[in-house]
Amino acid sequence: MQCTSCHDPHRNRTNDFLVLTHQFSELCFSCHDRDYWSFSAHSTSTATWNGNGIDPWPRTEYLNVAENACESCHNPHTAGNKLRLLNNLAEENNCLPCHNGNVASTNVVAQLAKPYLHNVYGFNLEHDAAEDPLVLTIHVECEDCHNPHAVNNTPTQAPLANGRLSGVAGVDQSGNPADPLQYAYELCYRCHADSPSKPVSLTTRQIEQNNVRLEFDPANPSHHAVNSAGVNPNVPSLIAPITESSIIYCTDCHGSNGSGSPAGPHGSIFPGQLKYQYQTADNTVESASAYELCYSCHSRISILNDESFGAHDTHIRDEDTPCNACHDPHGISNTQGNSTNNAHLINFDRAIVNPANNGMLAYESTGVFSGRCYLRCHGQNHMGFGFSY
Ligand code: HEC
Ligand code: HEC
Ligand code: HEC
Ligand code: HEC
Ligand code: HEC
Ligand code: HEC
Ligand code: HEC
Ligand code: HEC
Ligand code: HEC
Repeated sequence: MQCTSCHDPHRNRTNDFLVLTHQFSELCFSCHDRDYWSFSAHSTSTATWNGNGIDPWPRTEYLNVAENACESCHNPHTAGNKLRLLNNLAEENNCLPCHNGNVASTNVVAQLAKPYLHNVYGFNLEHDAAEDPLVLTIHVECEDCHNPHAVNNTPTQAPLANGRLSGVAGVDQSGNPADPLQYAYELCYRCHADSPSKPVSLTTRQIEQNNVRLEFDPANPSHHAVNSAGVNPNVPSLIAPITESSIIYCTDCHGSNGSGSPAGPHGSIFPGQLKYQYQTADNTVESASAYELCYSCHSRISILNDESFGAHDTHIRDEDTPCNACHDPHGISNTQGNSTNNAHLINFDRAIVNPANNGMLAYESTGVFSGRCYLRCHGQNHMGFGFSY
């Protein structure tokens, strides 16, 4: 391309001799058409820089995000990242000068300082704009989860993806590419489902499964409801307005902790990037805060009053047993479990629960609010210990 494609020495002396004004990036639009752009926060926001940290617009005279448009991230001459003409080589550095509280309204940088994060600092040049929707080499960048040309604040309801995930690629419940994605969980399936390298399970369970797509399959004997309503019509602990037919987001459980934190799984003080505390160690003393994650949707009073499992209180308070000893928070794949042994998200933590003296390790559901257990736990042999209401 010639200098004269963009500059004309006889015109626009006060505007870098450009052939078209650079305000709102009109110049760029003479050759590029951007999908989604007119709806994007990056094309409409009139936010300005508060003067702290790095100047997001060192080369222009324009003062807000909308006026600077493409120039907020791209540099036509001396790009730090030549391939996409981006201001900076490290992917996240194209976003963080503004998403640190100095331009945008929320501070994502502060979330990334927490111990359990999507560590965008830890990977460099692994991501490519043209990569397969199914991530083959482990990495994560802001650009994996957000399309900077499309992001906006249009709200919606689960399981649909809201404006923040507009125009990004995903993998659907059948394992096929969805580009752009439609449902929010399809984003997570890029990296936490069929990818050959991915983070490992945090708990060793009776039935091991590290592919979240299989854990949330609607045909499973039991699964939390991220893509279709759960299988159990009797969940008395649900806190209104949540019901047995509600659908929830992965990000209702995984997200930044702390009220007022920006939405999204950027960073948390809790292991597993959980929004609220969830103790998993054996001998945890029960409290509203120890299992705050579960109690954000399931009434603590109902659980401890044994409204479903007649021995919840005995286990949770008398024996200090964590929810995680018995329940798998995601679901049990129908390729491994069945509706007798794995109803109600039962999939024991093998660090806590052992086979009974005769070698059996099983839970058997025998109807609504009734079942039996064969196992050994806290030194107690359970040989068909039953409960029913
Ligand atoms: C794709 C369009 C494009 C092309 C091609 C281009 N420029 Fe520019 N140029 C711009 C824009 C936009 C600005 C103003 C904002 C900026 O610097 O990012 C600019 C600014 C400038 C400036 C002022 C820089 C400053 O620091 O104030 C000079 C000088 C310049 N260009 C020279 C050139 C020369 C020489 C060439 C050819 C080698 C060239 N440009 C090719 C788009 C272009
Ligand atoms: C005169 C036409 C023209 C103008 C004006 C122009 N571009 Fe381009 N741009 C091109 C062409 C041609 C390419 C090369 C396309 C290719 O190689 O695939 C390109 C490439 C790019 C790329 C890299 C694309 C890729 O796939 O990696 C980016 C990013 C880009 N331009 C951004 C801008 C921005 C921002 C502006 C405004 C400052 C701008 N362009 C102005 C014609 C133009
Ligand atoms: C020049 C400043 C600037 C840069 C650079 C920037 N953003 Fe933004 N971004 C904003 C502003 C301003 C908003 C409007 C919402 C707000 O103020 O919080 C926004 C909104 C967003 C939103 C939320 C959409 C909404 O309206 O709720 C996402 C997601 C986002 N940006 C991601 C990114 C990513 C990813 C990058 C890097 C590729 C990036 N941003 C680079 C300024 C910037
Ligand atoms: C908020 C930051 C941001 C803004 C604003 C922005 N871009 Fe981009 N753009 C990016 C990033 C980041 C990539 C690389 C995406 C990736 O790596 O997945 C990119 C990629 C591109 C590409 C090449 C790949 C593709 O998606 O086609 C072109 C062309 C492009 N941008 C043009 C533009 C133009 C034209 C504008 C203004 C209308 C613009 N961009 C505004 C951040 C931005
Ligand atoms: C692993 C995926 C992922 C990564 C990586 C990621 N985000 Fe997000 N982000 C999300 C999701 C999902 C949401 C939307 C949550 C919602 O609306 O419920 C979100 C929301 C946001 C919002 C809107 C927050 C609000 O409450 O207004 C901004 C701004 C944002 N992200 C910026 C960034 C920036 C900048 C980076 C890189 C430092 C980044 N994100 C990295 C998934 C991600
Ligand atoms: C582009 C790939 C990518 C996408 C998309 C992605 N993640 Fe991740 N995720 C990772 C990587 C890589 C890690 C490992 C931590 C690190 O090094 O950043 C991780 C870690 C996690 C962890 C913590 C696991 C542990 O062992 O502590 C959780 C939970 C998680 N992601 C949830 C999600 C959710 C929910 C989504 C969708 C909103 C999502 N991820 C989307 C790549 C991704
Ligand atoms: C009901 C809450 C909840 C929902 C919904 C949920 N998770 Fe989790 N997830 C958890 C908990 C709790 C853990 C930690 C379990 C542990 O410590 O063993 C976890 C662990 C993880 C891990 C770490 C690896 C592992 O399996 O231990 C990843 C990755 C993850 N979740 C991704 C996702 C994705 C992707 C979605 C949506 C498709 C999702 N989660 C939905 C509660 C949830
Ligand atoms: C964001 C809300 C939400 C959170 C947080 C949540 N749940 Fe649920 N849970 C639901 C909904 C909705 C249902 C009913 C639909 C279904 O069966 O999946 C449900 C159902 C259940 C069931 C019954 C499933 C069945 O098939 O019988 C169990 C067990 C359960 N949750 C345990 C937990 C545990 C343990 C935690 C904490 C790790 C937790 N839940 C956190 C929303 C939530
Ligand atoms: C000793 C094993 C065990 C422990 C520990 C345990 N549960 Fe359960 N839970 C069960 C069994 C068994 C059922 C099935 C009851 C039935 O037949 O419907 C159940 C059912 C449930 C249900 C679905 C029905 C309802 O009450 O709404 C929820 C929700 C639930 N448990 C949440 C929790 C939470 C939260 C914790 C930790 C605070 C916990 N459980 C600890 C074994 C356990």
